Formats: sequence, C-alpha cells, structure tokens
Amino acid sequence: MPDRDMTTTVSLVEHPEAGAASAACTAQPSMVVRAEQAIAAACAQLGRCLQQLGPHFPGDTSRGNYFAPAVWPEEPDGVNSSWTAGFWTGLLWMAHELSGEARFGTAAAAQLDGYSRRLERRFVVDHHDLGFLFMPSCVAALRQGPQPLAHATALQAAALLMTRYLPRAGVVQAWGRLEDPAQRGRIIIDCLLNLPLLHWAAGQGGAAEMREAAISHAQRSREHLVRPDHSSFHTFHFDPETGAPLHGTTAQGASDQSCWARGQAWGLYGFSLNHRWVPEQGFLQTACQLADHFLALLPEHGIACWDMSFPPEAGEPWDSSASAIAACGLMDIAEQLPAAEAERAQRYRAAADRILDGLLRHCAGWDAPGNALLRHGVYSKPDGLGVDEASLWGDFFFLEALARRARGWTPFWHPPAALSSSPISTLTPTPTPV
Ligand code: GLY
Repeated sequence: MPDRDMTTTVSLVEHPEAGAASAACTAQPSMVVRAEQAIAAACAQLGRCLQQLGPHFPGDTSRGNYFAPAVWPEEPDGVNSSWTAGFWTGLLWMAHELSGEARFGTAAAAQLDGYSRRLERRFVVDHHDLGFLFMPSCVAALRQGPQPLAHATALQAAALLMTRYLPRAGVVQAWGRLEDPAQRGRIIIDCLLNLPLLHWAAGQGGAAEMREAAISHAQRSREHLVRPDHSSFHTFHFDPETGAPLHGTTAQGASDQSCWARGQAWGLYGFSLNHRWVPEQGFLQTACQLADHFLALLPEHGIACWDMSFPPEAGEPWDSSASAIAACGLMDIAEQLPAAEAERAQRYRAAADRILDGLLRHCAGWDAPGNALLRHGVYSKPDGLGVDEASLWGDFFFLEALARRARGWTPFWHPPAALSSSPISTLTPTPTPV
C-alpha cells in the first residue's frame, strides 16, 4: 500500500486535551513508520496488560484507563462471559502475529477451551455477537495451522447463530431470547460484523442456508438501517410473524433519529466486509455511502463524537473506538474499489490516515497511565457506561488499523483465501490447546 507524508495540521477546540496537543503538531515521520512504531508500543502495552490479568478476561471497558479482570458474580475467576471476550483473545492473536512473541500465542491458545465450554453450557450466548466472539478467537486460531477443537467450536457457534434467524423477516435477531417480546424481530447495525461467521461456516461444510441467511440479513439492513441521507439507525424492528418492517430506534445513540457514531462505523466497515464474502450484492456501494456520511460529520482531527448529531463545539465525549473501526473500514473499502474509483480510494486512504493521526496524537494508551491501547472511547453514554474510557473493541480495531496500515495485515474477518496476501511469515507455531 503506498504511503503518504503526514504533516496534518489539526485545529482542536472542542476537547480539553486537544488544545494542548495541537501545539505540538510539527512535521512527522510517514504514517507507515508511525504505525510500525505504534505496533511495537501497543504490543509492549498488551504484554504488560497480559501480565497483570494472567488467565482472566478483562472487563468490556477500562476504569481510569486500566482494564481489570471481568467479574461475573456466580462464575469462577477468568470466566469467558461477555460479548467482548473475542476481542481480548483476538488482540493476543494479533500481537502474536505482529510481534512473533510466543507468549501472546500461548495465552490465546490457552483460552480456546473456554470458548468450547461456553458454547456447551450455553453461557451468555443468547445474542448475535457470536461472530465477534468466535471469529477473532477460534477462526483466528486456524491461521496457526489445523486446530480441530477451534474449527469445530466455530462451526457450532455459527449453527447457534443460525437459530436466531427469523425466516419471515429474513434477519438474525440481535438480543435476548427469541420469545422475548421486547427483543423479538429487532436487528442492530453491529450485526454486519457477525455475518462473516455464517459465510465462513458455509464454506467449511456448514449448512448452505447460512450463506443465504447472511445475504438476506445484509440486504434487509441496507433497506432499513440505512436512511435516505445515508446516516443509520442503530436498531430496527420487524414483525417476526409477517416480516413487515416496523421502525428504527436506538439503544446507545442520543435519539432514535440521531446518528450514533459507532453504529455508522460498524455499518461502513460491515458492508465492506460483506462485499468481500459476496461481491455480487453491491454492498460496497452502501459501504461508500455510509463512509461519505461519516466523513462529512467527522471533525478535522479525526476523532468522532460519540453521537454524530452533536456539533464538535458541543463538547460531548469522543468515541475513539468509532474512529478506529471507521479507519479499518475505510482501508477495507479502498482496497476493494475498482481502478476507475482510484480517486475515491485515495480519498478514503487519506481519511484513514487522518483518523490514525488523530488517534495516535490524542488517544494512544501507552502515552499515559493505564494498560489500555486506545483512550477516550464511550460504551453507552445513555447508560453511563464506559464514558471516556478504553474498550476492548476500541483497542482491537486500533491495533487492526495500525497493522493494516503498516503491514497490509489481513484481518480475521476476511475470507480465508485473502490470507495469501498476508505478509506474515515469521511465526513460531503455537501448541494445539488441550
Ligand atoms: N456491539 C455493541 C457496541 O458497539 O456497543
């Protein structure tokens, strides 16, 4: 991927940290060099975090920028219980691939057994986030070589995800038990990143219907989660009996009609990823529409406000994780655009660099106290959860964006064939988990 010189001038008035930091804007090394340096710093930070946590999973978000072990009242320590667990295992796999350090691979491999047990016990799996859980953990493990347990576990997870498919509506229900009237027939935009698990499984001997279900869900998402102005609803409700589309709502945004920043980022990256699995469906065009809307609302410094309906001067908290996800998505779209769209591709690459520049300047966790990679995220502002904190997904997509930028690294969400373009070749084989 060609590099470009980054000497961005930022003007940041709406965030307390931004003013001080902007004074330090001077000529910088190229973004490839900066991303490579950041990967080294991130892996060192992850090593410290791993040492502090040992076998325990971190919580969804940090407290004061420190990840502490997740606590689940009736479960033993170290339990794999949240929808975010896969990001922790995935961070360890990523660090293993990027640094070649065996300690990361050993720690990730040791967690695989817990994914299998979690499925067997049906422990907190009444939701659609099985792609987030099982792609960066069990499917990612297969990049190290054949691993029967991880392979079988990921296939079982996909089969469980399929049980959430509502054929009349043609969608995968997001949250809760299928008979729960409050949740029945509801989808959320994040699910676009869970669909690769269905595509992967269909290609690995799973039921062919998985692929059809994934396509149908992405089509319904395009029709109903994306608004005419190319902003997005966080969630949308269907009548599960008739399949009729009902209305859009939010759970984590400012209002039903607002543009929740992380949702818009999930959407632009999610449609791009779905295009990789089924290029004939035109999902790349939708990804571009969502990307253009995201960029139109993004402040110059590249860090999104948690809900994009607020003007930057409103002083609302940033959600750095939305920007990290968007940077991955913009690079993903740019890679797939045809030659005739070279100018658009270059615009998206430049925007991804602008975002990375902002994240490195203002949010890098290794520049401040704490054990996280990416500060200044928001989990759910309406619920007062993880506001101005790091999150596991923020850390994950920040490292993914850096790896893609510096090394053209192939993410875990891509079809396995894409691995042929991955430059990683210096890995120490990790032991198969027992
Ligand atoms: N997928 C849940 C979230 O983005 O908060």
